Amino acid sequence: MLSEVIATRYVTPLREGGSLPGIVEADDLGTYVMKFTGAGQGRKTLVAEVVCGRLAQRLGLRVPRLVQMQLDPVIGLGEPDQEVQELLKASGGLNLGMDYLPGSIGFDPLAYQVDPAEAGRVVWFDALINNVDRSWRNPNMLVWHGDLWLIDHGATMIWHHNWPTAQSAAAKPYNASDHVLAPVGPDIAAAAAALAPLVTRELLEEVVADVPDEWLVDEPGFDSTDALRRAYVDVLLPRAATIHERITMEAEVKVRTGPPGWLADRLDPRPRKMKSDSE
Ligand SMILES: Nc1ncnc2c1ncn2[C@@H]1O[C@H](COP(=O)(O)OP(=O)(O)O)[C@@H](O)[C@H]1O
Ligand SMILES: [Mg+2]
Repeated sequence: MLSEVIATRYVTPLREGGSLPGIVEADDLGTYVMKFTGAGQGRKTLVAEVVCGRLAQRLGLRVPRLVQMQLDPVIGLGEPDQEVQELLKASGGLNLGMDYLPGSIGFDPLAYQVDPAEAGRVVWFDALINNVDRSWRNPNMLVWHGDLWLIDHGATMIWHHNWPTAQSAAAKPYNASDHVLAPVGPDIAAAAAALAPLVTRELLEEVVADVPDEWLVDEPGFDSTDALRRAYVDVLLPRAATIHERITMEAEVKVRTGPPGWLADRLDPRPRKMKSDSE
């Protein structure tokens, strides 16, 4: 279970993305980015944040610590922004918080180098959860203390919006051409070999157990929250085993590193070594 804190002060909205998360302080003296049940797609966004965030953490990828946050909308009464007021009013009760990473900066592919092994793990994970929200326009990654951190998994697992077709939707390929790390040449095969065996039924059951019941109740077609939790496991488990075979990337994005060929030849007239020659 995620630990639970109580929101004590609404500090400021974060306006980069679409869902208007806020920076909020809590009774444990922590500062969190709070994602609200009253926003856009509502509680399914938060379910996706928990399932994917906890799964990523269990696979050794960096995602800020997640907590359950109790909100009394009264803490936003002094907030001048009408949109924020309404969001808080619509979100009384249980919401999601994640550790605020102070001083972090948005990932910029020109300023921060990611090696193909790490890029492979991120792209493989995004393929597993069908994340289409990690493009160069909107990378949803932060750099903090020199490391890469993944955020914003609310728009993943498209299949949980239509359970009757979930298995066939999850069997589809993942097009990574637009992924912000595609130009790095992600080593998908190595990532799949290392990570896929870790995604066991037991691990997935532990991950979905962290989703609060009240975000799962009354889902049409399911007579209990446990049945709905099982549905997440039953989709993610087979997808983890085979998704690496269905990751597509357009050819040109794979080679977009370093100077163009004609320039590289002028800079260094020696025949270029293949990477594998030097290893
Ligand atoms: N844990 C965090 N620490 C610091 N900044 C964050 C954190 N989470 C999100 N942000 C900032 O808030 C912005 C919006 O958050 P995000 O989770 O991407 O929500 P959305 O895109 O749905 O609005 C991010 O682009 C980032 O700049
Ligand atoms: Mg975002």
